[in-house]
Amino acid sequence: APQELRYDGQTVVVTGAGSGLGREYAIFYGSRGANVVVNDLGGSFKGEGKNSQAADKVVNEIKAAGGKAVANYDSVENGDLIIKTAIDNFGRIDVLINNAGILRDVSFKNMTQKDWDLIYRVHIYGAYKCARAAWPYFRKQKYGRLISTASAAGLFGSFGQTNYSAAKLALVGFTETLAKEGLKYNILCNVIAPIAASRMTETVMPPEVLENLKPKWVVPLVAVLTHKSSTETGAIFEAGGGHIAKLRWERSKGALLKTDDSLTPGAVAAKWSEVTNFKECEHPTGPANAMELVEAAGRLPRSPPAEKLDFKDKVVLI
Ligand code: NAI
Repeated sequence: APQELRYDGQTVVVTGAGSGLGREYAIFYGSRGANVVVNDLGGSFKGEGKNSQAADKVVNEIKAAGGKAVANYDSVENGDLIIKTAIDNFGRIDVLINNAGILRDVSFKNMTQKDWDLIYRVHIYGAYKCARAAWPYFRKQKYGRLISTASAAGLFGSFGQTNYSAAKLALVGFTETLAKEGLKYNILCNVIAPIAASRMTETVMPPEVLENLKPKWVVPLVAVLTHKSSTETGAIFEAGGGHIAKLRWERSKGALLKTDDSLTPGAVAAKWSEVTNFKECEHPTGPANAMELVEAAGRLPRSPPAEKLDFKDKVVLI
C-alpha cells in the first residue's frame, strides 16, 4: 500500500506562513507529524504594517486538526528570532522554507529607494538571516532541508519588477552555493519558482486561471524536496497549476578564438552565429574549463582579419 511522506519528530519553519503558499506548507507539515513554526509578520502585500492574527489563525488550524504548531511574528529580517522560536519550543530545526515575500511593483523609471530596499530586505536579507541562524544546527546534526522561493520574474525578467526580479534571482545563486557547502552535511538546498493564486497574484490574473492555480498544488513538490529520502540539491523547479518541471543552465558550444592580438571585437562579431548557436549546447554545473580552453586556443590558427561582417549595421568592426 502507498505510504504517506512523514516528518514525525522534525521541526519545520515556514516563513510568511500566514497566507497563500506558506499557509499551505504549514498546514501540510502539521498534518504529517512535524512541529511547525508558523512565522508571519502579518503586514500588507506591499510590506506595510504588522499583525499577529495571520500566524495565529494558521497555528489554530493546525492544532485543531491535531498537529503541533507555534506562532512567530517577527520579520524575516530578524530570522535569528524565528529560528530561536523553533529551538525554544521544539529543541531543533530540520526544514526551513524561505517563503515570506512582498511586492513593490513599479517601473524602473518611477522606482523609489524604499521600493528597492524593502524588497531586498525581505527577500534576500530575510532569507539570509533565517538560513544563517539555521545553518549551525543543520551542520551539527548533519541534516537539513532548505527551500528558497524564487520566481519566474527573477528567472526571465518581468515588466515593473526590477527590484523583485533581482532579489528572486539572487536566491538562486545563494542556493547554488549553499547546496555546495551543505552537501557533505546532508543539507540539501533547492529553489522553487511557484505560480499560485494568492493576494499577490489575484489582481493580475483572470479568475478562471486563478481557479487552476491553487497554492496547495505547489506543496507536494516542496514535500518531496524536503523529505529525508530526497537527494536533490542545488536545483531550480517551477511548480504551478499541476505542472512541475526542473530548470537548468544551457551553454552554447560557443566560438573559440586564438588568444593573441587577432582577438578583436571584429573577430568576435564575425563569430557571432557560433557564440549564440545552441545546437550543440551543454548543460553546465560550473564555469567553462579554463585549462581545456588554453590548450584548444593554442592549437588554433590566428583569426582572419575581419573584413566583411554581417553584424548589426554591416560596418567593419575591429
Ligand atoms: P502571500 O502574500 O499570500 O504570502 C506571503 C506572506 O509573507 C504573507 O502572509 C506576508 O504577511 C508574509 N510576509 C511578508 N513580509 C514578511 C516579513 N518581512 N516577515 C515575515 N513574513 C512576511 O503571497 P504568496 O503568493 O503566497 O507568496 C509566497 C512566496 O512565493 C513569496 O516569496 C512570493 O514572492 C513567491 N512567489 C509567488 C508567486 C505566486 O504566483 N503566488 C510567484 C512567484 C513567487
